[in-house]
Parts: sequence; C-alpha cells; structure tokens
Amino acid sequence: MKDIYILGIETSCDETSCSIIKNGSEEISTTVLSQVDIHTLYGGVVPEIASRNHVKDIVFVINKCLTDAKMSMDMIDGIAVTYGPGLVGSLLVGIEAAKTLAYIFDKPLIPVHHIRSHIYANNLEKELKFPLICLVISGGHTELLLIKDHFNITKIGSTLDDAVGECYDKVARVMGISYPGGPVIDKMAHDGKPIYDLPIPLNDDSYNFSFSGLKSAVINLYHNYEQAGKTIDKNCLASSFQDVVISSLTTKTMRALKEYNVNNLVLAGGVSANKGIREKFEQLCKEGNIDFSFPKIEYCTDNAAMVGAAGYFLYKEGKFTDLKLNADSSAELV
Ligand code: KG4
Ligand code: ZN
Repeated sequence: MKDIYILGIETSCDETSCSIIKNGSEEISTTVLSQVDIHTLYGGVVPEIASRNHVKDIVFVINKCLTDAKMSMDMIDGIAVTYGPGLVGSLLVGIEAAKTLAYIFDKPLIPVHHIRSHIYANNLEKELKFPLICLVISGGHTELLLIKDHFNITKIGSTLDDAVGECYDKVARVMGISYPGGPVIDKMAHDGKPIYDLPIPLNDDSYNFSFSGLKSAVINLYHNYEQAGKTIDKNCLASSFQDVVISSLTTKTMRALKEYNVNNLVLAGGVSANKGIREKFEQLCKEGNIDFSFPKIEYCTDNAAMVGAAGYFLYKEGKFTDLKLNADSSAELV
C-alpha cells in the first residue's frame, strides 16, 4: 500500500505548529513555536496578540517543517488543519494557510476537530485499540468519551463548569504562579503532603465533573490564611488540591471502564502531562488489567503532530472540505 503523508497545521490557541505524519502514526518532522513566554506577561492568552503572532510565524513554521523533513509539497497527500474549537482569530490563520496550500498544490483539505487531534496524539505512541474510554483533560475541556471506532464517539460525561486545566491555572494564579500554572502546581504537589481538607466535587453516580467549587475552596482557604496573618504551606495546598482532582478523575473514569466493559484507556489534552494523574491511572489500570496509554509529554499540549495523525484517518474516509472552510470557535466533536 502507498504511504500517506499528511501535513498538519495547528493554531487554535497560542502554539503555531506544522507537522508531517506518515500513515497516521509515524512522525517525520514537527515544528512548534510556543507563545507562552509572551502571554505569561499578561497572566493568560490574549487572543489578539496570539493571532498576530500566528500571522508572523506561520510561513516560517511550515517552511521549517518541510525543510527538516527534506520533503516538498508534491510529496504531501493531504493538508489537515484545526478548524475548532479555539480562538477564532488564531484558528483563521491556520485555516487560511491550509487553504492556500490546498489550492496552490491541489491537495485535499481535511478539517480536524481539536479534541479529535488530542485523542490521536496517542496514536503516535501506540495504535489506538477499540473500544476505548478517553479522558480528555485540557485547558478548555474535561470530558469522558466512549470511542467504539474512529468515527463512533459518544460523550458520556463532561464538566458542568470549569475545565480541569482552567482550574489548575486559576488556583496557581492566586498563589502568585504565572500562566500556565498547571505544570508548576504538579511539581509543587510532589513536594507537599495533602494536609488540607477540601471538598470532593460532584461525588455522584453520573460521569460528569465539577471543578469550580474545588477552585473556590482552595482560593478561600488561601485567603483565610492570608487574612489571619498565618502562612499556608503552598506545596501542601497544591498536593491537597491535586489529590482531590486525581480522585475525582480516576473514580469516574475507572467506573466508566467497568460499566461499559472496556479494557482500553487513553488520556488526552494538556493536563494529561500531569505526573500525579498519570501515576495514579497507571497504578489503577495495572490492578484492573486495563491497557493504558497517554501521549508523549510534548504532545499533550497543542501541536500539529496530533493533527496530522488524526487527519490520516479522516483522509482514508475521504472526509475532505472545500475552500469555504471557516473557523468554528465552539465546534462540538459529538
Ligand atoms: O491542551 P492544552 O495545550 O490547551 C487546550 O486545548 O486547552 O492544555 C493546556 C492546559 C493548561 O491549562 C495547563 O496549565 C495544563 O494544560 N497543563 C497541566 C500540566 N501541563 C499542562 N495541568 C496540570 N499538570 C500539568 N503537568
Ligand atoms: Zn488543546
């Protein structure tokens, strides 16, 4: 069978990225330019600044990716691009670049949903095995998905309020940690002990999650200590917070695997880089004989390698679009 090379483009938030993926699983070359140092100055991603930087960087990123791969556009079979969800101005930069390439080089244009891409970051590590349960944990999403095959995806639960990554970032901000705070809280949690009592969120029979109450509880506790002139141990607060997050995520996910009689679990999204979350799932999956996988650390957060991987399976099904493709900032996967 002929090898298929997909060029992926990702600009949904603050990473400008291009990648070439062979047959949905083999990375030929990836370039990621992160704007995180710029947005840190503002305490979060500033949409207008993000899109301006995508405009500045996109041509360089695509050229570098092709040069590193030692490939030219005539060797590419299809162009996959994130169409949503994300920041509309940022998405449009990637979409326009992809459309231009598709038009000039006469290649199929493949629109890819951002969460689909996060799921397929796993396919770059090992082939996805169906049926599987996917826990999507990112800055904008917290969802439990039952995936029976590439195009049979059911949402069985999601957050009722904040996404887990958003909650990490807000808790971090109160503790004076700059954006994105998730990775720092993760490190601090490992140096502390879970000595502070925090409420277990949405401890019910559903597969939904809730993190805004937990976030408020951490923030209130922190301010109460400050107002009383007492010092709170920040590492222990991080550890207490992370313990509750882990317990909420693992309890519902492990129950879903059992209830749906599924033996494969994958993590997806930026928060799946979290060491505490990975370690707990590793332990529980070992005990429960569940095949567990998570993306390579650098491909947990936004990148185009995952877009190229997801794009391959859409390419095989002929799921192409025309040059009218537009950004959809709140696109639903299911
Ligand atoms: O998937 P992603 O790059 O962007 C979205 O599509 O939302 O995820 C970014 C989120 C941020 O909230 C960041 O703080 C969080 O992932 N994150 C982490 C860790 N690494 C990144 N959260 C907790 N622990 C980590 N190690
Ligand atoms: Zn993402």
